[in-house]
Amino acid sequence: MPGPFSLLPHVELFEAPTPLQELMNLRAVIAAENGSCPQLYIKRDDMTGLAGGGNKTRKLEYLLGEARKQNADTLITAGALQSNHARQTAAAASKAGFACTLILFDTVPYQGALYRRSGNLLLDKVLGADLVIEDGTADAAEVFERVMGNISKADGTPYLIPVGGSNSVGAIGYARAAGEILDQAAAKQIGLTRIVHASSSLGTQAGLLTGLAGRASDVRVTGINVYRHDTEKMREDLTDLTERTADRLGVRRVGAERFEIVDGFLGEAYGVPTDEMKAAVSTLAQTEGILLDPVYSGKAMAAMIAMIFRGEIGPEETVVFLHTGGMPGLFAYEEEFAG
Ligand SMILES: Cc1ncc(COP(=O)(O)O)c(C=O)c1O
Repeated sequence: MPGPFSLLPHVELFEAPTPLQELMNLRAVIAAENGSCPQLYIKRDDMTGLAGGGNKTRKLEYLLGEARKQNADTLITAGALQSNHARQTAAAASKAGFACTLILFDTVPYQGALYRRSGNLLLDKVLGADLVIEDGTADAAEVFERVMGNISKADGTPYLIPVGGSNSVGAIGYARAAGEILDQAAAKQIGLTRIVHASSSLGTQAGLLTGLAGRASDVRVTGINVYRHDTEKMREDLTDLTERTADRLGVRRVGAERFEIVDGFLGEAYGVPTDEMKAAVSTLAQTEGILLDPVYSGKAMAAMIAMIFRGEIGPEETVVFLHTGGMPGLFAYEEEFAG
């Protein structure tokens, strides 16, 4: 890991760079129907190699660096029952020699038969994490306090990782990724104009914006809201997290016009399938042989395709779709894809 990012506390969890691949078949399919299509690439952060991969690998490198610095021996984090972040944290803990407790809240109003058994939840068990499962009405602060107390009583030293790994430490992983994408695009002579990806806890987007600002790049970052109906609140949180990340890295702050969060693709709620998501997952699988997920990257791909058809992403653009992972989630949503 060359450059300034190697000087910050981190634990190496994967070998960068992840592949940057052209989506020629998807482009041809869209162009056949739409008359035109921008150049499309995909950044394969689903291929980090850590227990199914995904965007959390990059954040966890820096979060585990902090945990080590603080002499912690047990990682604690939280998320929904099918949290990819929880699965990646369990895997990172295994690889780096930490114990791991995952607090999983049963909050998603999806009643699929395998949602509460398979997918990420199954992998959390295979990875050996201790699971604390709470229903949606539980008081999160009280649960955290109880779990932290139990670990301390057993002489453990806990390190608390926020939901989604999204604080100014975790976001460093995506500030670094921004440089990786720019370097790959330059090496392949790709005139990149925009990165599109799923946004929820916002560390990915905050990190990318900070990393691009650090390289004086004006590549747009379009975050697709897959998380909540209040997009304005998301934009405020993104502004705040990006400022904190920029300050931590000593990079100039990002202009307000750069905080782009697109709504209209969430559907009923976080984790609830939409028809557009199902079509996007099937289309990418059947044109490119690449698997997306039902909660994040599938909804983000649906948004990117819709924005191309609406002319909001023009044919003159060159777009990188950031594949943030999540494929194990497909197994929890079996009946959506079983035909
Ligand atoms: C597969 C996947 N994509 C995208 C995201 C969103 O990333 P962020 O929380 O940094 O906004 C997540 C977060 O959990 C995720 O698991």
